[in-house]
Amino acid sequence: MPQEQISLYYKNVLADVIGDEHGITGAQFEDVAAQTSPLITRLNAQKKAGETPYRNLPFRTDIAGDVKELAEQVKADCDTLVVLGIGGSALGNIALQTALNPYMYNIDDKQRRGPGLFVFDNVDPAQLASFFDGLGDKLDRTVFNVISKSGRTAETASQFLYVRDLLLNKLGSDAISRHIIATTDENAGTLRTIVEEEGYRSLVVPDGVGGRFSVLSAVGLFSAAMCGIDIDALLAGAAEMDERASCEDFSKNPAAINAAINYHFYNRGKIISVIMPYSYALKDMADWYRQLWAESLGKSTSLDGKQVFVGPTPVKALGTTDQHSQVQLYREGPNDKLFTFLQVEDFGRDITIGPAPGCASELDFLAGKKLSTLLNSEKLATEYALLEDKRPCLTVNFPKVNAYTVGQFICLFEVTTSFAGALFNIDTYNQPAVELGKEATFALMGKPGSDKSGRPYKQFADEIRSRMNTDEQFLV
Ligand code: PA5
Repeated sequence: MPQEQISLYYKNVLADVIGDEHGITGAQFEDVAAQTSPLITRLNAQKKAGETPYRNLPFRTDIAGDVKELAEQVKADCDTLVVLGIGGSALGNIALQTALNPYMYNIDDKQRRGPGLFVFDNVDPAQLASFFDGLGDKLDRTVFNVISKSGRTAETASQFLYVRDLLLNKLGSDAISRHIIATTDENAGTLRTIVEEEGYRSLVVPDGVGGRFSVLSAVGLFSAAMCGIDIDALLAGAAEMDERASCEDFSKNPAAINAAINYHFYNRGKIISVIMPYSYALKDMADWYRQLWAESLGKSTSLDGKQVFVGPTPVKALGTTDQHSQVQLYREGPNDKLFTFLQVEDFGRDITIGPAPGCASELDFLAGKKLSTLLNSEKLATEYALLEDKRPCLTVNFPKVNAYTVGQFICLFEVTTSFAGALFNIDTYNQPAVELGKEATFALMGKPGSDKSGRPYKQFADEIRSRMNTDEQFLV
C-alpha cells in the first residue's frame, strides 16, 4: 500500500504574511482553535456512537468485498458501464474516474482497465439521445448502474424508466435484470421495491449516509472497481486520514485546522470559498466538494432554532485555465474569498517542451522545461500574486494523485465539513431546501396525490403556473 500523505499548508492565511486586516492573527488563530478543539472530542464521540456512519465507510471491508464480487461477475460481459444518478449519487463517481483513470480512458482501449464509463447526472434529452445513438447495437454489452437512495428522485427515476423500457423492447424482458444493477436503500424506497419485484442485482446505500457523504460506499465504489480503480487503496487512504482527523491535538488535526480557518474567514467577510486544483485529474473533485460544502453548510436555521442564514459559497476554478478567466477578479475584485489550491508534486507522467524556432527566441526560456514545472510554477506565481493583494490562500499538497491520496482527500474534506457544520452550529447532514424544488417538479409533472404538507399536487401545480406565468411586459 502506498504511504504518500497529503498535507494542508496554511501559512499563507496568516496575518504575518498578508497583514492584520485580511490575515488571521496569532490571537485570532488561538481563539478559533479554542472553539474548535472541543469539537474534536465531540465528533469522535459521535463517530464512536455511530451517529456519523459515513466515517465508518473506510473500514467497511464488507462493502468493498460485495462491490468487488459483483464487479467480477459483471465485468466479462460489459464493455460500457452507465451510471444513472444525480447529486451525491453521481458526483463522487465522476470525481473518482477523472482523478484515477487517464484522460483518454473512454476513447483509447489501450488505456482502459475496464468498461467505458458514462455518468449521467442530468436529464438533458439531447445529451442522452446522442449517447444512445452512439451506443447503437452495443446495448447488449452495456450495464446500467442506477443509483438512488430514495428511488423517488425524478431525474434518476426517469432515466431508469427509459432504460428499462429500451432494454425490454430491444433485448426482451429477461435482459432487464442482467443489464440493470441498482444501488439503493437496503430495505425501503421505490427502487428497492422494484429490485425485489424484478430481481435485479443490487448494492446498498448504508443507513444514515447521505448522498454527498456516500462516495466511499457502494455508490462510488462500484463504478470505480469496474473501471480498474484500486478501491482497497482508496479506503486505506481514507482510513489513514480518518485517524489524523480524529487526533485530539488540534495542531496535528488537518480537518479541524481546515474547518477552523474556513470558519474564521467566513466570519471575517470571506464568504466565498474558491477551490482551485492545479491538476486536471483533480478538477472534478472540486465539483464533488462544491456539493458537499454547499448542501451541508448552507442553512437558514441553527441547531438551537435561531435564523442564521449561513454558508460559504463554494466556487470551482481550475489552474491554469482560470488564471486567464477569473484571476483578474480574484486579485482586484472584493477581498471576500478564501482560496484553497490543490497542488500535485509528481504527475506520474511528464512532457518536455520543444525548442523554439530561430525567429522566436523570446520563447527559448521554455524549451527543455517540463510541463509539470510550468504548471506548478504557475500555481506558485498565482498564489504569490494573490498574496500581494492580501488574499488568504491554503494549499492541499498531493505527493501523487493515486487511490490512496484521493481517499485521504475525500476523508479530509468530509470531516472538515463536519467540523465546519459544528462550528456554524447547524445540521450538516440534512438538505431541507432541496425538497421544495423536488416537490414542485412532481406537481408540474402531474404526480397524483399530495405533497408533504398535504396540498394536492394538482392545486400546487396550478399555484406554481399562475405565479410563474411569463409576464410579456418584461420580455424584451
Ligand atoms: O446529497 C444528497 O443527499 C443529494 O444530493 C442526493 O444524493 C440527490 O438528491 C439524489 O438523491 P437520491 O440518491 O435519493 O436519488
